[in-house]
Amino acid sequence: GVRHFLDIDRLDGATLRRLLDHAVRIKADLKKDRLAHSTLLAGRSLALIFEKPSTRTRVSFEVGMQQFGGNVVVLKPDDMQLGRGETIGDTARVLSRFVDAVMVRTTGEERVHELATHASIPIINGLTDQTHPCQIMADLMTFEEHRGPINGRTVAWIGDCNNVAVSWAHAAVRFGFEMRLACPTVYGPSPELLAWAEREGTGRLVVTESPEEAVRGVECVITDAWASMHNTDVDERAAILAPYQVNEALMAHAHPDALFMHCLPAHRNEEVTDGVIDGRHSVVWDEAENRLHAQKAILGWCMGVLD
Ligand code: CP
Ligand code: NVA
Repeated sequence: GVRHFLDIDRLDGATLRRLLDHAVRIKADLKKDRLAHSTLLAGRSLALIFEKPSTRTRVSFEVGMQQFGGNVVVLKPDDMQLGRGETIGDTARVLSRFVDAVMVRTTGEERVHELATHASIPIINGLTDQTHPCQIMADLMTFEEHRGPINGRTVAWIGDCNNVAVSWAHAAVRFGFEMRLACPTVYGPSPELLAWAEREGTGRLVVTESPEEAVRGVECVITDAWASMHNTDVDERAAILAPYQVNEALMAHAHPDALFMHCLPAHRNEEVTDGVIDGRHSVVWDEAENRLHAQKAILGWCMGVLD
């Protein structure tokens, strides 16, 4: 079958583990030699469809393909017939004749699934309203490069249980670690997500309304914007999520060597203070860099040159 990278819950633990191991090796090779693997994807092309803005995802996919000797085509809906009503299915059929894989950042996850249904090439989820799996591969890689294997460890997510949090929860199950979610009830995890984790039986999701309780002793504290790109109720969210700021006082409850992660872009002194994001716990720049290495592993796997 076609190797899509749609969501972490749709992949098995062994495949995900191999992807992370490839990413670590690809990063080390690049640090030793800027031309490492520079023909791995020679002659191949990747289309990047962005229905929402992006800095990290666009640059990391574009540079990653270039480093592997491949090409990219960046597409915005306004430049495409997709934006004038050509169907996703027909777009998928046509792109399949031109390029070797498509990364898509869009609104509803059903749009990514529809692309995958009609494409004969791999589709990569570059963020939807519901999930952000590429980000979490980079986050797991970052955790492990600082703290060793994530299996059996404990992390805390503080704030809105958004797309990034959901993909982290998928990872908790696939990699077998505990994720504590401190969220106001209105922005908490869905019953479906909790029931799925329960059924899978690996990993553990613990839900609380108390950030202090969630971070107690954890080895990694994670947060994200209070309002994601698809949210319109920005002021209401800011009011409800204000008690969920990750600041120095909250970090003091975590393990003394806890990491701080944020997928970025950050809203400084809203969900995270300058003191934390610029402080000794923070690994956000490594995390951003690892988007490149983790996605190169995903690209190689999707296009069949890595196992
Ligand atoms: N973290 C992330 O996906 O960033 P961009 O929106 O800049 O791609
Ligand atoms: N939760 C954020 C992530 C941005 C990379 C959003 O969807 O806007």
